[in-house]
Amino acid sequence: MSESARITVCPQGPLLVRGDFEVLDADGNRLDTGGSVALCRCGGSAVKPLCDGTHKRTRFDRPRRSRGGDSS
Ligand code: FES
Repeated sequence: MSESARITVCPQGPLLVRGDFEVLDADGNRLDTGGSVALCRCGGSAVKPLCDGTHKRTRFDRPRRSRGGDSS
């Protein structure tokens, strides 16, 4: 049985995706993620859609919580 995908917002960083998912590039090619991936949320990565750590240098900062929804 596969694990459903879970997306976790990292404070001041990327979106961490774990579980059963696929990431396709703009041409529809599947990226090899190995079951987990960090997706850039700051817009500064040189390897989008993946995080390359640039958010640390640029001191990316966003609220930790969304304005709505369930946090469970
Ligand atoms: S979130 Fe890490 S480089 Fe953008």
